[in-house]
Amino acid sequence: MNNPIYSELVNKFDVNLVIKELAPFGNGHINDTYLITTSPAEAPDYMLQRKNHKIFKDVPGMMKNIVITTGHIRNKLVAAGEKEVDRKVMTYIPAKDGQMFVNDDEGNFWTLFLFIADCKVVENIQKPGQAYRAAQAFGHFQQQLADLPGEELIETIPNFHNGISRLFDFQLSILKDAAGRVSDNQLLISKIIDRAVEMTSLQRWLDDKTLPLRITHNDTKINNILFDQDNNTLCVIDLDTVMPGSALYDFGDAIRTLGNKAPEDEPDLTKIEFNKEIYEAFAQGYLSEAKVFLTPTEIDNLAFSCRYMAWEQAMRFMTDYLNGDVYYKTDYQGHNLVRTMAQVRYLEVLEENREVMENIVKAG
Ligand SMILES: Nc1ncnc2c1ncn2[C@@H]1O[C@H](COP(=O)(O)OP(=O)(O)O)[C@@H](O)[C@H]1O
Ligand SMILES: [Mg+2]
Repeated sequence: MNNPIYSELVNKFDVNLVIKELAPFGNGHINDTYLITTSPAEAPDYMLQRKNHKIFKDVPGMMKNIVITTGHIRNKLVAAGEKEVDRKVMTYIPAKDGQMFVNDDEGNFWTLFLFIADCKVVENIQKPGQAYRAAQAFGHFQQQLADLPGEELIETIPNFHNGISRLFDFQLSILKDAAGRVSDNQLLISKIIDRAVEMTSLQRWLDDKTLPLRITHNDTKINNILFDQDNNTLCVIDLDTVMPGSALYDFGDAIRTLGNKAPEDEPDLTKIEFNKEIYEAFAQGYLSEAKVFLTPTEIDNLAFSCRYMAWEQAMRFMTDYLNGDVYYKTDYQGHNLVRTMAQVRYLEVLEENREVMENIVKAG
């Protein structure tokens, strides 16, 4: 597929390359990614990626964040004498006009970066060892950025994990009652509201600087890590959601799905159980890298961050249900209600396991 439109796009980037082949790559859900194989064979290959500007409204801001973070990591690798720098951090190529993207006629944003050859991607975590390695990779990524203040980055999705503003949206949805669903769901709503004071403390601690504002990845899935053939981490990829936030977001968000033995829309609440083995491996892997930079307050609140993320997500599902299912794609009538119930149940399960979770962190 050597469509001239693609060659035209690639030509606008500040790099000399000869396209041998350009083909859609992989199964990314958010962006459209193409692999550009080049000639001669020993020349590096590239990836051309169309950023999803419907989800990410501020692509220039996103690319600014990516340039700052990858530049910071690159400088550290070079200073440490790392030989394979281009395999240990993503390399984005600037356009000839100096921007980090190229626009096409339809207003799409295209980016170009180096393809890291000879790597492996794991699609899902099934074993504790994989959880350990994934957590180690994300912990290492945070460690590399620990001396870069969060304030230097742009909040490309404003208030993404701000519990106070999420709570405000939730309360608004109750007041509006757009779909007439409030009265049937009082108990579920009160389970969320009852926890509001505890849960919004995370945002208050960020506001009063009890918690440092760091740089977080915000999409800590294992398929956003490249491994070499021996399962050593090469680097963390998919940096679109990198922005200022609490280190607790990445930890809690990963456990929101990994710590639950059931899917997030499990209708049978008895199936929602805590996956202690995976949680333990993830916590240990994360702490093996993050212990050196986390503050005592952050460490003390790792287990809490998992409850926070479950609460936030329960509230977001419920908000959407009350608004009449306008945000999340639903597969059936009441899907958002099922998701809310499952998420609230998971939150209760995490509360039941609070001591176990805290002891694992203390031992880690
Ligand atoms: N620099 C890279 N080198 C090699 N493979 C990559 C690189 N970046 C992305 N990939 C591959 O492309 C897939 C999709 O890219 P990603 O940026 O994660 O897009 P999405 O946002 O759609 O998940 C990844 O899962 C990985 O397999
Ligand atoms: Mg990805």
